[in-house]
Amino acid sequence: MNLIFLGPPGAGKGTMASRLAQDKGIPHISTGDIFRENINNGTDLGKKVKSILDSGDLVPDELTVELVKDRLNQGDVSNGFILDGFPRTIPQAEALEDFASIDAVILFTLPDEEIVKRLSGRRVHKPSGRTYHILFSPPKVPGKDDVTGEELIQRGDDSEESIRNRLDVYRKQTQPLVDFYRKKNLLKEVDAGPAPDEVYEKLTANLP
Ligand code: AP5
Repeated sequence: MNLIFLGPPGAGKGTMASRLAQDKGIPHISTGDIFRENINNGTDLGKKVKSILDSGDLVPDELTVELVKDRLNQGDVSNGFILDGFPRTIPQAEALEDFASIDAVILFTLPDEEIVKRLSGRRVHKPSGRTYHILFSPPKVPGKDDVTGEELIQRGDDSEESIRNRLDVYRKQTQPLVDFYRKKNLLKEVDAGPAPDEVYEKLTANLP
């Protein structure tokens, strides 16, 4: 099962993708996570994209497409994969058609005011990527990762200014993909508003 998770920043794509990936035993491929890992490790790619991620703009298409193409060449995708945060532009979606076939595109929908609440309350364990929310999914000890007890941080792009830009970028550059995939009969919509268990139930009911 080859899936794309589409939707605005903070809708819960990453939360649902990591749960589904674990249940189905398929890889969760998040372009945002790959870029952040490179930034944390100080690679050339990380140095190139750091300021782009902090501002909430998009990394250039050619670079992102090559990265995903390489990732989909690895053996662990043979039973399926979840692409989280890719494609994000029409040129990316067109490029993807040359090297992967997609079974369904899940669109997670959430109003802007909920998005702002989710992103401003998000806390992350940097080494593992485990994600919490101070109100909706709090760690057992405030500010600490449940597994290692290490400090949780706020993502650099979860500042108010960057959130506003990410929403704007989503509307202008990513939302056109909704029609692109609807016309191909691949789009399934999931209301991302309810609590995580309910969203997950709706997600699994919508899978092909
Ligand atoms: P990326 O990491 O993909 O960020 P995003 O799309 O903005 O998505 P987020 O990770 O912010 O949100 P999410 O929907 O995964 O929500 P989450 O599950 O964490 O991309 C970052 C950057 O990388 C981009 O801005 C760009 O610069 C670059 N990039 C990435 N891909 C690219 C591409 N293809 N092309 C070019 N550039 C690219 O949940 C959010 C919070 O809500 C958490 O705290 C969570 O605990 C909580 N939560 C989740 N579900 C629920 C629920 N049901 N109820 C209550 N709380 C919930």
